[in-house]
Amino acid sequence: MGELVFVGLGLRGLGGLTLEGLERARKADKVFLELYTSPISDFSLEDLRRLLGKPPILLRRADLEEEAGRRVLEAAEKGCAVLMVPGDPLIATTHIDLRLRALKAGIRVEVVHAASIYSAAPSIAGLQIYKFGKTVSIPFPRPNYMPETPYQVLGENLSRGLHTLLLLDYDAEEGRWMTVREGLQYLQTLEERLGGGVATPERLVVGLAGVGGGDVEIRGGSLRRMLEAEFRLKPQTIIVPGSLHFVEAEALRVLAGVREEEIR
Ligand SMILES: C[S@@+](CC[C@H](N)C(=O)[O-])C[C@H]1O[C@@H](n2cnc3c(N)ncnc32)[C@H](O)[C@@H]1O
Repeated sequence: MGELVFVGLGLRGLGGLTLEGLERARKADKVFLELYTSPISDFSLEDLRRLLGKPPILLRRADLEEEAGRRVLEAAEKGCAVLMVPGDPLIATTHIDLRLRALKAGIRVEVVHAASIYSAAPSIAGLQIYKFGKTVSIPFPRPNYMPETPYQVLGENLSRGLHTLLLLDYDAEEGRWMTVREGLQYLQTLEERLGGGVATPERLVVGLAGVGGGDVEIRGGSLRRMLEAEFRLKPQTIIVPGSLHFVEAEALRVLAGVREEEIR
């Protein structure tokens, strides 16, 4: 019976790959890798090749989605195939499609988890995971394309006092990843258009870059001030806090440099 193993790469470089994931990839007949669902800092394909003792096959989005993972499934039908994915493999990706197709084809499927931005961002910012509402992604705006969903989801979460994790777009083909500033500008533009009081200049926001490394950048403050903040590392993400417990407020002051007057 064939086997497909999804292996998470974690958040930075190769340090987030678990021993279990490494072991499974070393033993696999074929190792595939996708790097289009998220950028990873400090990642080297050559280092991964050396670690595995064989070259991983780099897949583009079209390989997995348009051809619906045909190559991966073919390899998994014949032996053991591993698919390596940034972060935790099935979090904020569409790989469930491949997982279900494999199961329907009689292929055994396993998942080797790794750190995910979903848990790492709240934890490094000192915010309680219980108080997060729906997560939303901000896409790159294009002419006649600027979905209001991020603004609406943020508004709904805020009205319930909940925090929001906003993931930022990544276009692997063009090598373009969205910055905290671009994400905030997106929300600011929708605020100007819709006027719902969701992304006002005084709104408290937190920017995070390069989560998962010792040099993680985390800064918070009013949207107005954070529009000017510099974040160097990639990838980047935004948290908009809702109602803050006093320990969370203290954490944001200490960990993210939020000013007293910016906490309401
Ligand atoms: C579509 S999500 C994929 C999440 C991934 N599967 C996981 O479990 O972490 C990718 C987005 O999450 C955010 N992200 C992922 N890793 C990050 C990191 N180390 N630091 C900051 N943001 C990150 C970025 O906004 C990035 O564009």
